[in-house]
Amino acid sequence: MANIIYHEKARIFHLYNDKISYLIYVMENGHLGQLYCGKRIHDREDFPYLVEYSQRPTTSYLYSDRDFSLSHMKQEYPVYGSTDYRQPALEIKLENGSRISDFCYVFHSIQPGKPKLEGLPATYTESDEEAVTLCVTLYDQIAKARLKLLYTIFDSEAAIARSAKIENDGNRELHLLRAMSFNLDLPDKDYIWMQFSGSWSRERYIKERVLEPGITAVGSVKGNSSHDQNPFVVLKRPYTTEETGEAFGFSLIYSGNHLMQAEVDSHDVTRVTVGIHPFGFDWKLAAGEAFQTPEAVMVYSDGGLNAMSQTFHRLYGKRLARGYWRDRPRPILLNNWEATYLDFDEPKLMKIAQQAKNCGVELFVLDDGWFMGRNDFDCGLGDWYPNPDKLPNGISSLAEKIEEMGMRFGLWFEPEMLNPDSELYRAHPDWIICTPDRHVSHGRHQYVLDFSRKEVVDYIYDRMSEILSSAPISYIKWDMNRSITECYSAALPPDRQGEVFHRYILGVYDLYDRLTKAFPEVLFESCASGGGRFDPGILYYAPQAWTSDCTDAVERLKIQYGTSMCYPISSMGAHVSAVPNDQVFRNTPLHTRANVAFFGAFGYELDLNTLTEDELVEVRGQIDFMKKYRNILQYGTFYRLKSPFEGNITVWMSVSQDKKQAIVGWYRVLNGANQPYSRVRLQGLDPDLLYRNNLDGKQHYGDELMNLGLVTTDIMSGEAPQDGSACTDFESRLYILEA
Ligand code: DGJ
Repeated sequence: MANIIYHEKARIFHLYNDKISYLIYVMENGHLGQLYCGKRIHDREDFPYLVEYSQRPTTSYLYSDRDFSLSHMKQEYPVYGSTDYRQPALEIKLENGSRISDFCYVFHSIQPGKPKLEGLPATYTESDEEAVTLCVTLYDQIAKARLKLLYTIFDSEAAIARSAKIENDGNRELHLLRAMSFNLDLPDKDYIWMQFSGSWSRERYIKERVLEPGITAVGSVKGNSSHDQNPFVVLKRPYTTEETGEAFGFSLIYSGNHLMQAEVDSHDVTRVTVGIHPFGFDWKLAAGEAFQTPEAVMVYSDGGLNAMSQTFHRLYGKRLARGYWRDRPRPILLNNWEATYLDFDEPKLMKIAQQAKNCGVELFVLDDGWFMGRNDFDCGLGDWYPNPDKLPNGISSLAEKIEEMGMRFGLWFEPEMLNPDSELYRAHPDWIICTPDRHVSHGRHQYVLDFSRKEVVDYIYDRMSEILSSAPISYIKWDMNRSITECYSAALPPDRQGEVFHRYILGVYDLYDRLTKAFPEVLFESCASGGGRFDPGILYYAPQAWTSDCTDAVERLKIQYGTSMCYPISSMGAHVSAVPNDQVFRNTPLHTRANVAFFGAFGYELDLNTLTEDELVEVRGQIDFMKKYRNILQYGTFYRLKSPFEGNITVWMSVSQDKKQAIVGWYRVLNGANQPYSRVRLQGLDPDLLYRNNLDGKQHYGDELMNLGLVTTDIMSGEAPQDGSACTDFESRLYILEA
């Protein structure tokens, strides 16, 4: 049960549930201070020993008694320039050019449940019993500005959601130069920082470094959350493993420019700050206007990284993702992209679809290339009308034929883009993001539509909704294949150009919001050249995302392992593709490709007609398997057991809610001769249940499997099959354990 207690005398707020305590207080200068964040502790009237006043050389003090300096105060939403020299959460420029702020406590309210954040994705509750929210209002008398800090503690999760709102209450203009979502000053620096970094086709690789005094930060200034750095970081103790130890996960529910930062100061306090990247950010607050930051979520775990991830999975899977598909097993799809690229016509698609249907696929997805002029990457984007050369009978006729076949139909869009060679660009050259008098750069021959403008979003909404209304379309793949350059909007005045990046993302959210409301049963899958916008902001609208353009099973081990640190398995699009693989040209066995993709929103990314009869039999078996077990695979409790970043073997598993079934995925990249004995200690089973292992038919208690381990020793013996089919490298197995 979550609760928030206010101790009036000490002016302390204690936010707690069964798992965590979060203690904040009103400091003597009226600002909000941080006392404690971590495992649940007893409530007390006061915690005076936690505020360590002391005189320190070369410190600047606020008052004459020489012991209150913001430099030495752990704070909740700090500002720079009045004795604190660390990076702030907030920076406001006043009309006179000054940048000092002084937000002091005025009042607070505590309410059951969680209020909505207008225009922004955020976690939500389905009943008021699920969470409690504290809103602390602070005021700066000189700036005439109001600051509202929102804290929600969830009933059953070790998680706190935070955001801030700044209102201009005066009659002079203010400029927000920095408005972060979250700040936490932790009392020591003994952490390993984990970030999730990469590039196209190798997204969310786990990278670690030891925190040291100074700033450790990742972020994006590309306009999208990016392949390069995810808006998610972890601070874990040096002794923390997947199974044990403390970890804090920090996640920003946002899809644009972000900054995830830890600053260790001169006295080993670690300041974690999370929010919209302040680089280039300048939001004008005219009299009466308000700015709402995105929401950030912090998860605490004292049960290792798996427990942290499981909290994110539950929270983001059930209280961030929404709608018809949130809890439903995801349809097994076949996407034609790697099968045809742009080179297709209706008969070719029908042939691919028919074979997919024969194998049991449920959803046929037509990717890029179906619209006017789209025969190459340099034309067509923006002209969302069916290409008569490829589809003479239009989208509706194709979609109906697919439906008649017994599958659902899905369609690709890239709503935010246009090619210079398009009717839309010729009609509205001013609709793109570009800076006056400057060269316009492109990415993949495309420009970015100015989604900060309502008329642009309206136009794209009309085009998409017309197509969606005209045909039985059950799924949309929403792609986004380039970042923003020369950021500037022709529709905004000079003193609002620092708002364009954020307004752009608000436009993206607005379009998602309108489409998901108008077509509530359509399954949206987001994509950005693979995983370039795999973030919690988009997850609010699209419950699944194309994890990466890299479909090679070996590469996918790292990508899916890293992604699982924050994101639910049901959200990760994962497909079996052809060999040699299109990205790394590797030949992996068909079963390994499927064994990796099963842990995700499963599908195929190839023309099944190119497979042999034996392979087709195998594919049918895979689809039957997925239909039988997808509930556990996509919605079970997921445990990472052995990391692909640490060795040749990867193991992960999913356990059903009732613990009666579990599926263990075991993957080995390279084979070796005369392999050592090996066992893997499983997790999450019922110690007292007897599980039957499908591979050898033997039975073991849960406590054996979790303590002695599952024996995975692999002995190559005997003679290699004469047909050359012996699989050595890139081997994998699924162990199905049933009680
Ligand atoms: C990038 C995506 O990640 C691919 O899956 C595919 O949809 C292409 N774009 C189409 O252009």
